[in-house]
Amino acid sequence: MYVKKVAVVGAGTMGADIAYNFAIANIPVVLRDIDSKILAKAQEHIRDVMKGRVAKGRLSTAEMEKRLEKIQFSTQDEDLLDVSLAIEAVPESLPLKQKVFQELDRLLPPLAILASNTSALSITEMANVTIRPERVAGMHFFYPAHTMRLVEVIAGTETDKDVTATLVRLSEELRKIPVVVHECPGFVVNRVLMASLAEVLRFKEEQHLSPQDIDGVVTTRKLSPMGPFVLADALGLDVAWDVSQILQKAYGERFNPGDELGALVRQHHLGVKTGQGFYSYQSSSKEPSLNAEPMNSEQQDELVNRFSLAMFMEASRLLEEGRADQQSIDIAMRAGAGLAMGPFAAADKMGLDVIYDKLQGMSQRFGDRFTPPSSLAQRVARGQRGEKTGRGYFHYKI
Ligand SMILES: NC(=O)c1ccc[n+]([C@@H]2O[C@H](COP(=O)([O-])OP(=O)(O)OC[C@H]3O[C@@H](n4cnc5c(N)ncnc54)[C@H](O)[C@@H]3O)[C@@H](O)[C@H]2O)c1
Repeated sequence: MYVKKVAVVGAGTMGADIAYNFAIANIPVVLRDIDSKILAKAQEHIRDVMKGRVAKGRLSTAEMEKRLEKIQFSTQDEDLLDVSLAIEAVPESLPLKQKVFQELDRLLPPLAILASNTSALSITEMANVTIRPERVAGMHFFYPAHTMRLVEVIAGTETDKDVTATLVRLSEELRKIPVVVHECPGFVVNRVLMASLAEVLRFKEEQHLSPQDIDGVVTTRKLSPMGPFVLADALGLDVAWDVSQILQKAYGERFNPGDELGALVRQHHLGVKTGQGFYSYQSSSKEPSLNAEPMNSEQQDELVNRFSLAMFMEASRLLEEGRADQQSIDIAMRAGAGLAMGPFAAADKMGLDVIYDKLQGMSQRFGDRFTPPSSLAQRVARGQRGEKTGRGYFHYKI
């Protein structure tokens, strides 16, 4: 479907940046909020981000003004009547989002697409309050959306293929990297990241380690560009807690983050935004201070295994449930979580037989959450051991 004009509903942190992306791509966009002060703030933010591009020589001042004219800042229903797509970015509450979807359903042309930027709520439950559930999908941008390139395009149970295809094409027009995901709690990136964060949190408590210990090993062993505790503090521990609760309810104990995260949230230690989380940010530098007693090499190896294999296991579950293919999962984890390699490419490199043996040992110690997935066992049985045999999750020249 050709998208000639877009509406973004909710002009907060995410909505303002999403509208910016459309303006930069020269696609007319209405940025809608119920609060005109927030619209003024969004306008200022978008201008600042564009000025940044001007300063880098990527945009002339005249072009900046033209792009800014592509955005209509509005509090009025009438401005939504001729849009082909609305992306909702109001606060994360299902009843609120359902109310917004009903309004959009009433206002927009019958074939218009209604999309949600939700991080964790069900697209199908939003679709079900409209009379066009087949034209409802998720379009999940990542923070900060003016720089992060991943967009998870989420298909609900009734979403038309034409709708996901349109959102994929449109994301590409925005110079983003779309991956299609069949709906499940946490989609790809949050589900895989939270599985490894919960594993690391439990490991930290078992072994009485500090966040510095763990973040130091995770970054020096290049498992992730950012330690999980620096990342959680940046994200907001309240957000991490809410997501972990949703995922624990959906998938069970493997998403149980242990006691510390909840305790920090109850004390209102929410990370960078409150000056205290796993780290203290009271000093002027806002950089976590590095200590510390290094972990012994056995502990380090155990951390590496638990972090990376928890990630691999969750990615394998997504694959086996048919939520996304291995390529999409790897792309999502690189573009959305900054990993140097996706979990399947990393497994191919390490050797699928090696991973299989490690998982066997881990499942004996920790139970089912590390039982080798059948998609791995079948490959190993067929002699597909990854890069060294030319075939694993991907194909290689040997
Ligand atoms: N902030 C993030 O890091 C992030 C990342 C990815 C996805 N998300 C998701 O994006 C959505 C928005 O998050 P945010 O952080 O931008 O929230 P926010 O609180 O910054 O902004 C929400 C905006 O919606 C407006 N709003 C409320 N009711 C409205 C209505 N009926 N009509 C129009 N506008 C209305 C509010 O005035 C506010 O400006 C949430 O679903 C969140 O889960 C957030």
